[in-house]
Amino acid sequence: MFKVKICNLAEQQIQELKTLKKLCETELGWEPPEEYLDEWVKAVLGIIRHDQNLVKIAYTNGKIVGYCVAVKKLHNYEGVVMDITWKTAYIWDLYVAKEYRNRGVATALIENAIAYLKSIGIEKVGLLVNYWNENAKKLFEKLGFKLWSHFLVKKL
Ligand SMILES: CC(C)(COP(=O)(O)OP(=O)(O)OC[C@H]1O[C@@H](n2cnc3c(N)ncnc32)[C@H](O)[C@@H]1OP(=O)(O)O)[C@@H](O)C(=O)NCCC(=O)NCCS
Repeated sequence: MFKVKICNLAEQQIQELKTLKKLCETELGWEPPEEYLDEWVKAVLGIIRHDQNLVKIAYTNGKIVGYCVAVKKLHNYEGVVMDITWKTAYIWDLYVAKEYRNRGVATALIENAIAYLKSIGIEKVGLLVNYWNENAKKLFEKLGFKLWSHFLVKKL
C-alpha cells in the first residue's frame, strides 16, 4: 500500500511536472516537441502565480505521481486566455502515472480541485475528454460529469 498526499504545486517542482506531462502526451499518441512542453510550463507557472490552489499534485515516496490543472473564469494566464463563462471553471489537464492507477489517485485529485473551486464560488466545472478515452469517461461519469457539448475537429 502507498499513501498519496494531494497538495498544491510549488514553483520549484515544475521541471518534475514537465517530465510527467511528457509521459502523458506520449501515452496519448504523440511525441511532444520541447517547444510545446515549454509553452505548457509557462502556462502552468502563470496559473499558479495567479492562484496556487489551481494546480494539484499527487505526491508519494518523494515524487509526483499525478496532477490536475484547473483554470477559472475568464483569465489571462501568461498569454493563454481561457474563455469560460461566469462562475465556471475548467479542468485543463489530468494525469496519473501508469503504476499508480486504479487506486483512487485521479478521484482524489479531482475531488480536491473541485472542493477548492466550490469554496471560491464556482458553480460549474467542465473538462474535455477524447471520445475514445473510455476509462477516463467512465471515471468522470462516476464523479457526476455529464455530456454538455460536442467538440468538433477538422483535419487540415
Ligand atoms: C484517466 C486517469 C487520470 C485515471 O486515473 P486513476 O488514478 O487510475 O483513476 P482512479 O483510480 O481515481 O479511478 C479509476 C478507477 O479506479 C477505481 N478506484 C477509485 N478508487 C479506488 C481505490 N481506492 N481502490 C481501487 N480502485 C479505485 C475507480 O472507481 C475507477 O474504477 P472504474 O473505472 O471501474 O470506475 C488515468 O488513467 C490517466 O492518467 N490516463 C491517461 C491520461 C488521461 O487520459 N487523462 C484524462 C484526459 S481528460
